[in-house]
Amino acid sequence: MKKDFIWGVATAAYQIEGAWNEDGKGPSIWDTLTHEEGNVVDGGNGDVACDHYHRYREDVALMAELGVKAYRFSISWPRVLPDGIGKPNEKGLAFYSNLIDELLAHGITPYITLYHWDMPQKLFERGGWLSPDMPQWFGEYARLIGKRLGDRAKNFITINEPQCILGGMNGNGQAPNLKYSLKDRLTATHNLLKAHGTAVKILRETVKDVKIGYAPCGMPVCPKTDTKEDIEAARKAYFSFDPKDPTSSTSVLSDPVMLGDYPKEYYEVYKDCMPDIKSGDMELISQPLDFYCQNIYSAVEAHSENGKPVVDGYPEDSPKTDMEWHIVPSALYWGPKFLYERYRKPIIITENGVSLPDAVGPDGKIHDSNRIDFLASYLKELKRAIADGVKVNGYFYWSFIDNFEWNFGYARRFGLVYVDYTNQKRIPKDSFEYYREMIKIHSEA
Ligand code: FCB
Repeated sequence: MKKDFIWGVATAAYQIEGAWNEDGKGPSIWDTLTHEEGNVVDGGNGDVACDHYHRYREDVALMAELGVKAYRFSISWPRVLPDGIGKPNEKGLAFYSNLIDELLAHGITPYITLYHWDMPQKLFERGGWLSPDMPQWFGEYARLIGKRLGDRAKNFITINEPQCILGGMNGNGQAPNLKYSLKDRLTATHNLLKAHGTAVKILRETVKDVKIGYAPCGMPVCPKTDTKEDIEAARKAYFSFDPKDPTSSTSVLSDPVMLGDYPKEYYEVYKDCMPDIKSGDMELISQPLDFYCQNIYSAVEAHSENGKPVVDGYPEDSPKTDMEWHIVPSALYWGPKFLYERYRKPIIITENGVSLPDAVGPDGKIHDSNRIDFLASYLKELKRAIADGVKVNGYFYWSFIDNFEWNFGYARRFGLVYVDYTNQKRIPKDSFEYYREMIKIHSEA
């Protein structure tokens, strides 16, 4: 790995900030969802979370101790624009401005995600992703952020995991957790992609030397064996889509952005419920990016049978994490490799990590050796991809700190830093030391 490789950690606003109704912040769809009983394990919500809104200085100091070069965080749209559009909230903007100053003072480069799922409730009530105005609303939000923070923050990611956003419109439990028709979901997909493109355009207009990416997810598919046939089968399976659930796929959410069009079969399969695609939409959606981001946690396998791909599911005997996600280190080899071959853009892994049942030991420490094993095995595969010519610019561990894990509340811990939620005490885990060493060794190499 090169010396300038971007070693980072990631978080998201709703999962760490707390201060859900302080200093003029408006409500988001996640505030609404979590305040309704029964939507989150143990009835948790992000009202306080890690109280990062008040403790960001302490948190940045810990990041500096960790030695990360970059920090990926998201902006809470309703914190800076309580109604989603219209009058900005100066106190909300000041929070992010101070956070950026603090990061820069510690030599840490900010990577801003504009949208990590917490849509202003007011915009949701006006149609949210179904509204044809959404691209413009998102663009205006991007303009505000670009103008007010772009003098110091240069790296932007438009949207995090559109697959999960659209899953929340298919009743998967995430906000708004409603079930929409397929036609509506395809319309929402198109509006979301246009919103992405609009934000890219506006950020380029407003921020000097800006660098922009987009962070979808999607389950990588690894070949069961290294035969040419199985590799081709895995590649095909990775970029195909399930006609019943197209919005969870990689190609549907990435081809328009990276290649300028939906997959050919998309038009055939959905000819009766295609969104209204206007001339110029695809040009808008496929504005050139500087890097292509991907969140990768696991992978399935596929093999070839009579020239056709057959998906086998998770590798036999692959251990599971606390989230029941399968540990498949080769996800960080085949995922970036196939993505780079298809999209030809430098890749940044914007999330990868593991949830474990961490606990404070009698010595007051958290000995999370399984997280260290996870990191070592996944990063080995990422290095193998780089050695094979895949251009990977950076890696952000999810997450810097234990936090509110959406529908699982506080019952899942992904952090390199443990949080005691009774008193907000932060304790770096053993994996924190490991990651620190890893960064140090690679930065000196
Ligand atoms: C991803 C989300 C992130 C976090 C991790 C564990 O899907 O982007 O916010 O919850 O999973």
